Amino acid sequence: MAPVDPHSYTDGAHPVTSHLALAFYLDFSASAIHASALVTLSAPHSGDILLDTRALAVHSATTTTDAPSPIPFSLAADADPVLGTALTLTLPPNTSSFLLTFSTSPAASALQWLSPPQTASALPFVFSQCQSIHARSVFPCHDTPAARITYSLLLNVPAQLSAVAAARHVSRRDPASADHRGACDDALWCAPDRVVEEFEMAQCVPPYLFAFAAGGIRCRDLGPRTRVYAEGGDTLLDEAAREFAGVEDMVKVGEALFGPYEWERFDLLVLPPSFPYGGMENPRMVFLTPTVIKGDSAGAQVVAHELAHSWTGNLITNKTNEDFWLNEGFTTYAERRIVEVVQGEERAALNMGIGWRGLNRMMERFKDNMEFTKLKPKMAGIDPDDVYSEVPYEKGFQFLWRIERQIGRPAFDEFLKKYIATFKFQSIDTETFLEFLKANVPGIENQIDLQLWIEGTGIPPDAMEPDSATYKKICALAAEFKSGKFPSEEEVADWSGQEWELYLENLPTDVEASQVTALDERYRLSESRDYEVKVAFLQLAIPTGCRCYFNEVEKCLKQVGRMKYLRPLYSSLARCSGEEKILAQRIFSEAHDFYHPIARSVAESILLKHG
Ligand code: BES
Ligand code: ZN
Repeated sequence: MAPVDPHSYTDGAHPVTSHLALAFYLDFSASAIHASALVTLSAPHSGDILLDTRALAVHSATTTTDAPSPIPFSLAADADPVLGTALTLTLPPNTSSFLLTFSTSPAASALQWLSPPQTASALPFVFSQCQSIHARSVFPCHDTPAARITYSLLLNVPAQLSAVAAARHVSRRDPASADHRGACDDALWCAPDRVVEEFEMAQCVPPYLFAFAAGGIRCRDLGPRTRVYAEGGDTLLDEAAREFAGVEDMVKVGEALFGPYEWERFDLLVLPPSFPYGGMENPRMVFLTPTVIKGDSAGAQVVAHELAHSWTGNLITNKTNEDFWLNEGFTTYAERRIVEVVQGEERAALNMGIGWRGLNRMMERFKDNMEFTKLKPKMAGIDPDDVYSEVPYEKGFQFLWRIERQIGRPAFDEFLKKYIATFKFQSIDTETFLEFLKANVPGIENQIDLQLWIEGTGIPPDAMEPDSATYKKICALAAEFKSGKFPSEEEVADWSGQEWELYLENLPTDVEASQVTALDERYRLSESRDYEVKVAFLQLAIPTGCRCYFNEVEKCLKQVGRMKYLRPLYSSLARCSGEEKILAQRIFSEAHDFYHPIARSVAESILLKHG
């Protein structure tokens, strides 16, 4: 066995899945999908082949010949806690396609099923989040970004719902017997109260970019190739349409910087508040947390980030999770280039400053586990969700910014465009990037210690703190806090959430409860509608032992399932000894049904760690 990826059972000596024809019957009453998958391999194969699964029940495997015959298969007896369960099929000679039928488990790690009382429309809702290694809980696959697939997808849903996917929408139509290939009983599939939404993904993508959602979803057009979708009433859709009005302009900025936008459409889906990330770059259909809609255009940064993935991440993909910085570091760099054009240099520098603080905080978080301060860490046996951090984002950004400073922006821009054009629709590793860099920027290895940047721990000495007036001013104000001085009303008059976030994150961590409450009385930060501000404030307040914020902490943890907020709040509470820890446990026991399975397990492991 020649593993290609520490997070997959895929055997490098065997062909991989190249195309999937998926038929999904969405069973909301059982929180399960009954499915069939017609798998096409990249080359004919005989004998054993391994696929990744997690918590799937596999019902059948058959050949696709004129007289279909069963294919022997077995699921490994034990599930690996990180990898899941290997599915071994023993293929007849020269098999290039086969048919599987299977069902997902209600505990599928990629899927969140929301019951009508949990949604804004009072209709059921389901969505997927497959990055990094959760696609295997939805369908058996070679769940490594090294293996790219095209796919077709039929979603059979109740007729009062609609569905979206990260693929081209072909049609909404009546179900037909010929559709489902044994996904479920014909009578179920073709019931009069069901419809089929049909999708096609013709561009090859890594399995983690497979995505769909179904529910009471409606939409508004924003521009010629952009539309916003959301579950819920007119108000949310109107607010979203206002927040994202500038998206078409942003796509044009991206094209000018990085080359043609290759995915035809750039639509946005605003998810229910339990969505575990700020945004997810599903191609053609970015998924977003509703917390980015704040009415102050702050959502633009997250959209710029997910849009930037259209080039870095989706066109060029990290080969395995050890190369994750190729996705997120490049995208953070690209995001800031877009922000610079649409919101100006000062805003971009402020984002860099917030990132710089974050990177420095990560050195503290990983001080006993410096492996995860490397750009290319060893990931065997490690669950990517457990070590998710700002390191690949901000150290990756710093590395690319360092190269830009060395060769100058015009040369770096040209290099970036060539890099994207050369490797588009491919999955590459860090070594491939370095070879390309050295070939196109002769002598770079003598000017920058590339090995230290990639393999070294910590922050290299030639990383750079951003240098901008606003950033420095805010850092200076934060430094005065210790001596009891708050920023004045005039100084904060034009602050948006990001300025406050930077200010709060720069405050010393050992402040007194009385100082914190005094700051809050003046600026009402604990009640901010902006969760970045609110969480940064609560994170500061919790360790002071000040109980007066318990209520706000509880509301926050029960209203939003974004892990960026859950992690610091649960960690701060669990790190305290007395009542805080008990509070964390009670809130989790009451809120865990509201969280996506990925967020649930992250929160659970935080609580366990601090037992
Ligand atoms: N691809 C990530 C989200 C992700 C990473 C999901 C790893 C699963 C595993 C996405 O592009 C992202 O980085 N989102 C950020 C946005 C921010 C950097 C603007 C987030 O969710 O906070
Ligand atoms: Zn990203």
